Formats: sequence, structure tokens, C-alpha cells
Amino acid sequence: MEIPFSESYKIKMVEPLRKTTREQREKWIKEAKYNLFNLRSDQVFIDLLTDSGTGAMSDRQWSAIMMGDESYAGARSFFELKDIIKKILGFPYFLPTHQGRAAENVLFSALVKAGDIVPGNSHFDTTKGHIEFRKAKAVDCTIDEAFHTELEHPFKGNIDLDKLEKVLKDYPKEKIPFICVTVTCNSSGGQPVSIENLRDVYVLAQKYGVPTMFDSARFAENAYFIKMREPEYANWSIKEIVAEMYKYADMMTMSSKKDGLVNMGGFIAMRDSELYRSCSTFNIMFEGFVTYGGMAGRDMSALAVGLNESTEFDYLETRIKQVEYLGNKLIEYGVPVQRPIGGHAVFVDAKKVLCNVPKEQFQAQTLGIELYLEAGIRGVEIGALLADRDPVTRENRYPELELLRLAIPRRVYTNNHMDVIAAALKNVFDRRDKITKGLEIEWEAPIMRHFTVELKKL
Ligand code: F0G
Repeated sequence: MEIPFSESYKIKMVEPLRKTTREQREKWIKEAKYNLFNLRSDQVFIDLLTDSGTGAMSDRQWSAIMMGDESYAGARSFFELKDIIKKILGFPYFLPTHQGRAAENVLFSALVKAGDIVPGNSHFDTTKGHIEFRKAKAVDCTIDEAFHTELEHPFKGNIDLDKLEKVLKDYPKEKIPFICVTVTCNSSGGQPVSIENLRDVYVLAQKYGVPTMFDSARFAENAYFIKMREPEYANWSIKEIVAEMYKYADMMTMSSKKDGLVNMGGFIAMRDSELYRSCSTFNIMFEGFVTYGGMAGRDMSALAVGLNESTEFDYLETRIKQVEYLGNKLIEYGVPVQRPIGGHAVFVDAKKVLCNVPKEQFQAQTLGIELYLEAGIRGVEIGALLADRDPVTRENRYPELELLRLAIPRRVYTNNHMDVIAAALKNVFDRRDKITKGLEIEWEAPIMRHFTVELKKL
């Protein structure tokens, strides 16, 4: 008999979960103004809101916490992190920040000005927010295949080189501070970018004299997909693939809360000493001194260990196989999901599930509410609410994809939990024709509204 696959870790500490009734959930979600971010975690049974900062640290990481050096300047923990960033990602300069968006804030303060254009592959919402906040524009150059959820393509995070070249031709290089490549591409479904594409983007960028920046939150998952899907790299180790990926980046921002395997943290890394200098000033202003930048020493030590662990094949195989397990169950039940299954999450195509709900009534959010009511499972909307209004016309933007993201925290849930999620979603899917009404906005913030929006059931 073939030995089945199993996790590459065992469990040393557990945290109880609380089951709730449908009546309780109906009351709580109404009080939360139909915004899943407003729920208390005690009101949630399985929390798939995000894979960001929600993972479980290893015994090695907890040991590193005890060894952290809390010196204000020149802490040993800083140098541990600096060494591992150099070793794994190849960058000589780095600045710690308290999380990914803080890294964006610091780097973009140094580089992005009003009227600039930042081409990329479906920029993450905080990235786009930091660009638009500076009155610059993010231009999406993702390949068209990414927007057809049921179309199989190994690298749906890839940048369309023609779209990119058009931007590079249409604007002078002074207006393009960098190209932003998100690995894996969260907004298009946790989809990877191939080495071939990273290399082609870099070559094109060099031709036009524009630097390349990687938004690196899930860089290790991207490397796993390269190993599995880009034949040339099948026999490379994950660390070798990561090193190859970063040959094609001039700088990076990192949300360490994902593939850093820590609960809080981020950083910027770069090759250019001048850029390091100009970012250092903003880091000191917004984050903290250059050797801690918003992170405790102990957290930098845990992150150094986390970066090492997340770039090991066995860890990544366990991680991605669990996400695939959930995705395949949903496919088996006929639920339309983004294919192939992404690295950190399964993305349900809400447009195809709730066909009777008009897009103006927020289909993916409506599906998220239904799933919560069904079994206390919290996903997150990646659709029209998140897409915000156009900064100029103030009209609602309706993105091509209306997705409900079920993000899987790292090393947290078992496949039994995945079975519960799949069954709950199947139940919602089976009664989809009866769901004809969605939601209406009662209040919204002028930017990044989805976090705090207040909604009403129609
Ligand atoms: N870039 C990407 C691709 C992200 O997915 C995120 C966060 C960030 C940048 C910002 O990092 O949260 O540390 O400030 N994504 C989380 C998510 C919030 O749920 O996907 P942060």
C-alpha cells in the first residue's frame, strides 16, 4: 500500500475553539453591520479572514524569542535577521518595519511622488492605497488569463509583457519609480509568477531604466510553485529557487506575517546604498531606529528562524497541500473556485455562485455572510468593496473578479477543519438560487473602505 501524505510537524500546544448557534451568529453579524472584520474572534469557529500573522510559530521560533536582544541600537537580533536576509534573499541592506504596509510607507515615501505610475501585477490593496495616497497611479499589467477563474494556467500571477512595455513606452522613466511584482499575487488568487516572467520583466525594466521591486509577502510559496510547475527548476532546492528569483529584483517590501512565519513584522531590503540612506530617514520617522524599526528584538530573532523554516520544502509541501485539499473538495462539490488553487487561500468565484444577486449588492460579501451564518466560518471579500471607488470619479469600481477568499493560516488547522469548511460552503452553494438579495452600504471610509464599511441587508 502506498504510504499517504501527512504533515511535516507534530503539535505541541493547542488552543480551544468555540462552537456557536445560527441564532447567535445572526445576532452578531447584524451587530457587526455585516462586516466580517467587526466580529470578535470568539464569535468565529474557523477563522479564514487572513493568513497574515495568524500562523503558529515553531518550537525553534519560540526558543529564539527567549534569546532576543532588546538593545535599542545594534541588537544581536537585528544582525541575525540581516544575515539571513542576505543569505536567503541576497540583499545587503535592510530596514525592519512593524509590518508590510509600513515597509510600503517607508519605501514609497522615498520613491513615489504625485503623478507617478507604478505598473505591476494586481497590486495588493495597501500597496495600491499607498500609491494612490501619494496621488500616483497603479497600473495593473497582470496576464488576462488571471481573470478567468476556471482557466488552468500554471502562473496566473505573471505580468503581461506587452501591457508592461506599453506603460514603459507611454511614460518617461522619471515618472515610473519602480515596477511592483507581487509574489505570489494575492489579488489574483494567490497565484505565482514564474522565473521566466520575473527574468523577462527585469530585462524589460533594465531596457527602460526602471527598477524592479518585489512585494514579497508569499515569496516562499511562489518558489514552491516554481519548483512544481517550471520544469527547469524541478530539482532545485527552495532556497536555490528563492535566490534565483531575487536576482531579478532591485528591492523588496516584505510583510513577515505571511512567509516570515511570525505574528507581526515586516522589512524593506535593497541593493542600493543611496536608497537605503533615504529610506533610513523615513524609517526613523515612522517606524523606529534603523536596527529595530517597529519590531522587538525577540521578534526579529523569531523572524530570522521563520525565514529559514518557510524556505524548506517539507514545510511548504504540507502548507500548500492543505490549501489544495480544501480546493479539491470544493471542486468535487461543484463550487466554482479560482484555478489552479492558490498558495495561501482558496478563492471562490462569487459571481458564479450568487448569480441572482446584482453586482451592486456585493456578491462576494453576501457569500461571506452566508458562510458565516452557515457554520461560523469567516472568509474575506476580495471584490467590489475592496476595490473601493475610483479616486477621481468616486464611482464604485467593479473588478473583473468577485471573490470570497478562504485564507488558510499556516500550521494552525487540520484537514478535519478543511472538511467542515467544504461542507458548509456546499450547503450554501446548494441553496444559492434562493439567495437573491445582497447588501447596501450605510457608511464607508474615503479610502480602504472594506475594513470599516457598515452594511445593511437588503
Ligand atoms: N502585500 C501583500 C501581497 C499582502 O498580501 C499584504 C497583506 C501586504 C502587502 C501588506 O502587509 O498586512 O503586513 O501590512 N495582506 C494581508 C492579507 C492583510 O490578508 O492578505 P501587512
